[in-house]
Amino acid sequence: MALIEQLEKSHKEALDGLKKAQNEDQVEEIRIKYLGRKGVVTSALRQIKDLSSDQKKAVGQKANQIRNQLEEQIKQTKSDISSLKIEEKLKETTFDYSLPGKMPPLGNKHLISQIIEEVVEILVGLGYQVAEGPEIELDYYNFTALNTPPGHPARSLQDTLYLKDIKDSKKPKEEVLLRTHTSPIQIRYMEKHNPPLYIIAPGKAYRRDIADPSHTPMFHQIEGLAVDEKLSFGDLKGTLEVFVKRLFGEERAIRLRPHFFPFTEPSAEVDVSCSLCLGKGCRLCGGNGWLEILGCGMVDPNVLEEVGVDSEKYRGFAFGMGIERIAVLKHGLDDIRRLYDNDIRFLEQF
Ligand code: PHE
Repeated sequence: MALIEQLEKSHKEALDGLKKAQNEDQVEEIRIKYLGRKGVVTSALRQIKDLSSDQKKAVGQKANQIRNQLEEQIKQTKSDISSLKIEEKLKETTFDYSLPGKMPPLGNKHLISQIIEEVVEILVGLGYQVAEGPEIELDYYNFTALNTPPGHPARSLQDTLYLKDIKDSKKPKEEVLLRTHTSPIQIRYMEKHNPPLYIIAPGKAYRRDIADPSHTPMFHQIEGLAVDEKLSFGDLKGTLEVFVKRLFGEERAIRLRPHFFPFTEPSAEVDVSCSLCLGKGCRLCGGNGWLEILGCGMVDPNVLEEVGVDSEKYRGFAFGMGIERIAVLKHGLDDIRRLYDNDIRFLEQF
C-alpha cells in the first residue's frame, strides 16, 4: 500500500478510536500507537526520506497535516473527558457548591482594651495626652513622692507585692515593687515636663488582694492629672461630669463624697447615678441610687513641691478609675474574674 493511503487509513482508525475512548488512559494509548516514537504516523513520516522528490512533498504535507489534526483531536478528547468527569462528580454529590464558605472565627478586642480605648478617646478629646510608665516601680514613685512616706498608714491600704531581694536594701528610694496604681506615672512625667500639663496614664496596677467577685490582684487603671495656673475644684468636677456623661450617657449624673487620699487635698470619691433607677434606689445599686466609679482631688502641694513645681503658682487636680469597675458598671457583670477566665462565650458578647 502506498504510504499516503496507509497514512489516511491510520488517520481514520485513530479518529474512530478517539470517538470510542472512554477515559484518559485509552486516549493516551491511541496517542502512543499513532504519534508515539514508534507510532504508525511517526514511522510513516520517517519513511518519507526514501521517496522520490515530487512524492516527498505531497506525502510530507499530508503526513504533517494528519499529525497536526490528530494532535488537535487528542487534546480535544482529553479535555472533553475531563469535563465529563467533573459533571459526573457534581451529579454524584448532593453538596451545594453555591453555599457560602465557612468563615473562620474572627477575634475582637478584649472588653478591657475596648474600655481603655473608649476612656482614652474621651479624655484625649478633652485635651489630655497619654503618658506611660513602668509596672515594676520604685517605692519612691509609688508612695513616697505621692506624699505617702515610709510608715504612713495609707500604705497599708494599698499593700502590694514587693520584689524581695531589693526590698532587703531597706532604703525606700531603692525598694522595688509592682505599682499599686498608675499615679507614679504622674510623678515621672512631672519630673520631666513643666506645667501647664494635662495627662492621662492608663496601665496595669497590682495589689495584694485575694481574687473575689470585685477584686483581682492585677487590674487596670486610668488616672488623669491636670496642672495649670488657675485650676479649681470646679474644673475637676466639670471635667468629671463631661467625662461620665460621655462614657455612660447624658442622662447619668455624678455626686462627689468627701474621701481621703494622701496625694490629694481635698479628695473625693465620685459616684455615678445608677443605670437602672437613675438615682432613685434599686437592687442594682443596693437601694442608694449611686455607684462608685472613681477617686479624685486637688493635688496636694507637697506632691507638686516634691517634683519641683511651684505650688504657689500652680495647682493641680487628679482622678483615677479602675477599668474593670467601669466594665462592671457598663455591662452589669456579676464577677470581674470573668474578664480573666478566657471563656469565649463570655468574651464574644462584647
Ligand atoms: N491613685 C488612687 C487609687 O489608686 C486613685 C486616685 C487618683 C485618687 C488620683 C485621687 C486622685 O486609689
